[in-house]
Amino acid sequence: RREPLLAPSLLASDLANIQATAETLAGAEADWLHFDVMDGCFVPNISFGLPILEALKPHAKQPIDVHLMIEEPQNYLAAFRDAGATNLTVHYEACPHLHRVVQQIKALGCVAGVALNPATPAGLLVDIAADLDYVLVMSVNPGFGGQAFIPHTLQKVAELKDLLLDAGSPALIGVDGGVDDRNAAALVQAGADVLIAGSFVFKASAGPVATLAALRQQLR
Ligand code: DX5
Ligand code: ZN
Repeated sequence: RREPLLAPSLLASDLANIQATAETLAGAEADWLHFDVMDGCFVPNISFGLPILEALKPHAKQPIDVHLMIEEPQNYLAAFRDAGATNLTVHYEACPHLHRVVQQIKALGCVAGVALNPATPAGLLVDIAADLDYVLVMSVNPGFGGQAFIPHTLQKVAELKDLLLDAGSPALIGVDGGVDDRNAAALVQAGADVLIAGSFVFKASAGPVATLAALRQQLR
């Protein structure tokens, strides 16, 4: 069993102090910083976007994993790359021309990710699998932090793992939503390479650094 990457989701952090959070996480067991962009159209909530990413970027030690929960993401890819995104993940459900969008992300020099809502089957990625760097399996309906993990995600991760192996795809599998120390080990067992966690990391009384360290220890 491989050790997964850990990606704290900044949506659950103190947004008045994003510089301090980035500095704190610089020395923590955080491999990527997960950055949730919500437009109030694709999802029923609005979070933050380009100016906040630009503000974060100079203070971030880790790659920034930008999760675009927006409609028409193809119109904003270059702007998010320029603002500091390392990974750009678009939603399958927002992209009728997904193949083109994936090529656009790669042409910008970013890691190309596709996210699947809970009701979207893994099998729909079969014709694009070989082109992907990253698949983000949503284990909650996107739009809010702090929701309960949907248990069916475990099977979906396992199915996706098989699909990627069959396609010869190098894509990493991320899991996003309700991830904590009760489901992390099973997710890794099922094939998850990246664990995204917001509330579990930032709302813990022990604080983000100790919480990430304990999670890393548990998965070792
Ligand atoms: C949900 C977001 C997630 C969220 C995870 O729409 O995409 O990244 O921040 O937060 P938790 O871990 O609290 O479910
Ligand atoms: Zn996310």
